[in-house]
Amino acid sequence: MLKLNIDKVFDFVPQAEIYGMKQEMEGCNALLYNRQGRGSDFLGWVNLPSSLSAGELSAIKKAAKELQEVSEIIVVIGIGGSYLGTKAVLSALTDNFDWLKTKRKYPLILFAGQNISEDYLHELFKAVKKQDVGAIVISKSGTTTEPAIAFRLVKNAIEARYGKKKAARHIVAVTDAQKGALRTLAGQEGYQTFVIPDDVGGRFSVLTPVGLLPLAAAGIDIRELVRGAKDMEAATGPDVPFEENPAALYAAARTALYRKGKKIEILASYDPKLQYIAEWWKQLFGESEGKEGKGLFPASVTLTSDLHSMGQYIQEGERLMFETVIGVEKAKHEVTMEADEADLDGLNFLAGKRIGEINRMAELGTMLAHVDGGVPNIRIELETLDEYHIGALLYFFEKACGISGYALGINPFDQPGVEAYKKNMFALLGKPGYEKEGEEIRKRL
Ligand code: PA5
Repeated sequence: MLKLNIDKVFDFVPQAEIYGMKQEMEGCNALLYNRQGRGSDFLGWVNLPSSLSAGELSAIKKAAKELQEVSEIIVVIGIGGSYLGTKAVLSALTDNFDWLKTKRKYPLILFAGQNISEDYLHELFKAVKKQDVGAIVISKSGTTTEPAIAFRLVKNAIEARYGKKKAARHIVAVTDAQKGALRTLAGQEGYQTFVIPDDVGGRFSVLTPVGLLPLAAAGIDIRELVRGAKDMEAATGPDVPFEENPAALYAAARTALYRKGKKIEILASYDPKLQYIAEWWKQLFGESEGKEGKGLFPASVTLTSDLHSMGQYIQEGERLMFETVIGVEKAKHEVTMEADEADLDGLNFLAGKRIGEINRMAELGTMLAHVDGGVPNIRIELETLDEYHIGALLYFFEKACGISGYALGINPFDQPGVEAYKKNMFALLGKPGYEKEGEEIRKRL
């Protein structure tokens, strides 16, 4: 499914020290199953891949097909965990230039509700004017401001285009089973709905309808995605010894480095298709671990591009970070470097080589340079970019995050800090009930 290599950590933390964390890591993994740890009400993701039934997947695929039938473009509305998983998987598995296609088998997926940019919304509405549009609105709480703003506008636009009755066929809501404004609205308007389980937090929800419905609508093979995750669930279970459990080993290596003073983990990849996997990963780890004054700061780079920007800092700046690299063994397509008679750029020595091989050598050379510069390296190797391997990778990170969070001594499954900006924003916007805070905040601006 994936290969984990932590050898390049041992120059910084002795191998024996990491393998000496066996009991601790197995204990943290056990807490995810015996539900004795903090935040244990939110552990529904742990068994999610193996508990998803064929019936549930079929229902998702059916709804996706119905939406495909009425839409050339589907706007996926959500923020944080309610959109990043979809964006990550789509970016990893679709053609880089998919958006340029004029004829397509599946609807084009566009996103809204993850920013409050006026120009973004204006440009989105302009872009979708001529094509049939559907929407998948996703919010567990059903009250998050950014997607609620976008959905109000998208809903009105769809109703204006198709009429109120027909509009319901163009909209699917994914939300809480009972509570929240979106659940109430979906009931009133007669939207088809899917449920985000109570015990699955947003950033762990990609394998629920939150991710699976839009991905299925985009033509992604969600059964394979879940199969990969399910195999990783088995490979990281509570009975798997620490030495054989890749998620526990990764958790141990990053925890050991943190305890040695490394404060930043940089997720690096050598393919732009993985850029949004890194964005998803940043939310997963950042929101899970960054609390109580603790936690590794998750950052990301896409290489070799960022070697020409962040590379200098990584090589020679403050020695605060380590790198976790996602490598991909096999590219899907073959492109070979060509010979040139004049050879003015001096690159004929590369003639006949696959571009992937050149990328690979850049990757290995960079790894050694960074290790020599004092940056420990963890490697995660995927055989190829397909649904199965991406499913395995997502679950691997989720499991490692749960284990690491418990090793850090925090509750990995809440996000109390996210409320602070909301309170100030509501006060500044004059939301009823926030009048007093509004006065105080204005004085501070
Ligand atoms: O991980 C989380 O729970 C959050 O980041 C949420 O995903 C995000 O805030 C969106 O919340 P909601 O789905 O309730 O709109």
